[in-house]
Amino acid sequence: MKRLKDTITLYLGALRRIGFTMTLGLAQEDARQRLLSLYQVYAPMIPDEDFTPQDLYIIPKTDILELLDNDSAIYEGVNECGFGYTTEFELKVISNLVNHFKPKKIFEIGTFEGRTTLNMALNARKAEIVTLDLPSEELANTKMKIAVGEARYVKKQRSGERFLDHPVRSQITQVYGDSATFDFSPYHKSMDMVFIDGSHAYEYVLNDTRRAFDILAPGGIILWHDYTNWEGVRDALNELYQGDSRCHGIRHIGGTSIAILQV
Ligand SMILES: C[S@@+](CC[C@H](N)C(=O)[O-])C[C@H]1O[C@@H](n2cnc3c(N)ncnc32)[C@H](O)[C@@H]1O
Repeated sequence: MKRLKDTITLYLGALRRIGFTMTLGLAQEDARQRLLSLYQVYAPMIPDEDFTPQDLYIIPKTDILELLDNDSAIYEGVNECGFGYTTEFELKVISNLVNHFKPKKIFEIGTFEGRTTLNMALNARKAEIVTLDLPSEELANTKMKIAVGEARYVKKQRSGERFLDHPVRSQITQVYGDSATFDFSPYHKSMDMVFIDGSHAYEYVLNDTRRAFDILAPGGIILWHDYTNWEGVRDALNELYQGDSRCHGIRHIGGTSIAILQV
């Protein structure tokens, strides 16, 4: 009896929320975001090509097998999942890319717990990694508006806790600030890889991409996380892909939300 009651409560709760999301919620970015997330879950189960919003994701797909020989990377915490984490496959893809291209200097925008930072360090033991994070106390003072729902990633006890007590710690330099006002000039044209995973708001993705081009060395690689998960990332990357001649080579790595560009 209790199980039936719980099921009905769950069903009615979901119905109420979906009703809101599909009506009044369409005016709110976070509700549209939820709709998109729901869509990502259900779309593969519906074998109807017409139902796929092809025009939402205009960046051509590339297969990771074109980029990598085989999986020879090493991992820590690869099969964990949580809000703000790269998926297991994404972390494997990033680790293999690092392992394959052997960047000597990597810049990450958006440290969070440092799970990806740690795995990048593990796969490039000679690399120096600089990772930038917005301090919790600066949450209300960002130059531009961060996306709704991002505060949970900013507010944390310690940034980069995954690597703070790890042997790879010596490879990693933590820097703090708002990527819109942070001084990137000391890194001018020096980075072999930039991983953009800070704020997912449209303006921030555009800003962070401009800064990535400033600090990238010739032949360097930019990776963006969440192309298919956040509206702001999708819109910014679609716009860059279509309108910025430097970005025509961006590709969306199949099976992930990662976009990649080798300049
Ligand atoms: C989704 S998490 C990053 C996850 C991490 N890259 C990983 O793969 O595990 C986003 C991070 O970006 C940071 N962030 C958000 N807005 C930022 C800003 N304007 N400047 C710098 N960092 C920002 C947040 O504090 C948070 O740590």
